[in-house]
Amino acid sequence: MRRRLVAGNWKMHGSLAANEALLAALKSRLRQVDGVDCAVCVPFPYLNQVAGLLSGTHIAWGAQTLSEHDAGAHTGEVSGAMLREFGCRYVIVGHSERRSLHGETDQQVAAKFMAAQRWGLVPILCVGETLEQRERGDTQEVVGRQFEAVLNAAGIAGFASAALAYEPVWAIGTGRTATPAQAQEMHEFLRALAAKRDRGIAQELAILYGGSVKPGNAKELFTRADVDGGLIGGASLVADDFVAICEAAS
Ligand code: PGA
Repeated sequence: MRRRLVAGNWKMHGSLAANEALLAALKSRLRQVDGVDCAVCVPFPYLNQVAGLLSGTHIAWGAQTLSEHDAGAHTGEVSGAMLREFGCRYVIVGHSERRSLHGETDQQVAAKFMAAQRWGLVPILCVGETLEQRERGDTQEVVGRQFEAVLNAAGIAGFASAALAYEPVWAIGTGRTATPAQAQEMHEFLRALAAKRDRGIAQELAILYGGSVKPGNAKELFTRADVDGGLIGGASLVADDFVAICEAAS
């Protein structure tokens, strides 16, 4: 059985006090379940706090992006080496907000994916189409291109220790979720692309769904054959909701 992963993406939210309360609630209520990994991906300044509060628990943590460079004159950037020092296991790469608000290209996303792996981090590679692209019938072409750019650069072997997240842009933070059937269709498509290169790695690859996952729709999504968990934005900031979503993955 493939391992499942539920990762929270806090985005640019939190404060020292709010994080402490949220993590205390998760620590006391998030049970460890066989075959399901749980993690929170937090803003850089909170990594030290989160590492302090979560080390020794079954909850892992990570960041939301990283530089493709390992060191140097890159003002404002954070390297994989630095994330490693703060005990990160995961790092989100190519989130649609990074692509659209910060101009990250497929090539840059691929370079970031490889930088994460150089430092022993597990990249969570995000792919997804906009509403306009879906309505034009370009969903598979767009999502396939985003995935292939990383496959071509990192090789299929890179996906032996990575996760993929299908996040339709029109579903992120909108309250409009892809139907379980729409998610399954795309997850199956992505797994088939990976299987063309290596069937074994494709079978083991965790493919997460992201975009307005809530306690009320998580179970339905996660019971689909190729949906192996979720990347959770808004609902990961509410302890009750995140706990319920993690439970839905078990
Ligand atoms: P959302 O965000 O759950 O708030 O839609 C998901 C994401 O952006 O990863």
